[in-house]
Amino acid sequence: MAQVRAITVTPGKPNSLRLVECFPEPSTDEGAVLVEAIAVGICGTDHEIISGGYGEPVPGSDTLVIGHESLGRVIEDPTGAMQPGDLVAGIVRHPDPVPCANCAVGEWDMCRNGRYTEHGIKGLEGFARDRWRIPPRFAVGLDPALAEVGMLLEPTSVVAKAWDHIERMGARAAWEPRTVLVTGAGPIGLLAALLAAQRGFDVHVLNRTASGSKPALVHGLGARFHTGTVAELDLEPDIVLECTGAPPVVLDAMCKAAPNGIVCLTGVSSGGRTIDFDAGALNRALVLENNVVFGSVNANRRHWDLAARALTAADPNWLNSLITRRVPVEAYAEAYTPTADDIKVVLDFQR
Ligand code: BGC
Repeated sequence: MAQVRAITVTPGKPNSLRLVECFPEPSTDEGAVLVEAIAVGICGTDHEIISGGYGEPVPGSDTLVIGHESLGRVIEDPTGAMQPGDLVAGIVRHPDPVPCANCAVGEWDMCRNGRYTEHGIKGLEGFARDRWRIPPRFAVGLDPALAEVGMLLEPTSVVAKAWDHIERMGARAAWEPRTVLVTGAGPIGLLAALLAAQRGFDVHVLNRTASGSKPALVHGLGARFHTGTVAELDLEPDIVLECTGAPPVVLDAMCKAAPNGIVCLTGVSSGGRTIDFDAGALNRALVLENNVVFGSVNANRRHWDLAARALTAADPNWLNSLITRRVPVEAYAEAYTPTADDIKVVLDFQR
């Protein structure tokens, strides 16, 4: 039987990350589309899974192939939905089996009962293996020009959903937003800023430090780069995308929005820290200014398609600069060890 290399973890067990040289070939039960991996992107969720704080194994096993930010090339698709050679990414989340009202209509990103599964995160094998399979409805085709950067589609789908929901909430009343604040210049923050710039907004990005290429990447979007605290910023954003999950930044972001403003929280905090905070004053400000604060996670098929269009419209050099390290599979331990100037680290299956 043919075998593939796979990067696995034992969810719940800290530092169980392994390169398995002879993992079974993906079974057709996983989907009709057979894909040769090009690369997977690595994010904070992967680090949390590796530290033992998140993730679920596939049923009947105690391990999980990691990797949810995929990019590959189609080897075969007997259904004819994809052609051999097509660039493809796999949708991360699959609907729950009940299904809940949202999963029943393809809105698995809004699953109500938590019984959804996620490739490389929760109960479904991930994409960090030489070959993987996916059902055609969860395969997203990419423009051939995105062969170097297409693993950015997954994080872009997450921000495409955030923008979709911001726009739906904004439509509740007459609203002419101009100023956008993004907190955090990691991959999610920078991609959120890209989508803001594509919408023609006056974009501001705040980051803890001005290290590495982050200021230049922000300027490359025609946006302004800031350090310091949210409270110190001399602006009144109509839209805030909070992309740090750092509790003091989250609270400051909620207080900063303009009247009728919308604050979208995308960062997953680890919890366990308490802060002395005037909740009454925040409530008063939110009510008297018709503000919206909402959380956003994951993305459905429509958001993946929006994200594919956003990446195709973006400057390829700018996208390429988000990827600060490309590491071959053999050096996987290096890829999963964060360094100070990382933005997006990618595990490369073709080198
Ligand atoms: C992924 C999402 C996923 C979330 C929670 C994020 O890193 O991008 O697709 O829903 O983690 O598991």
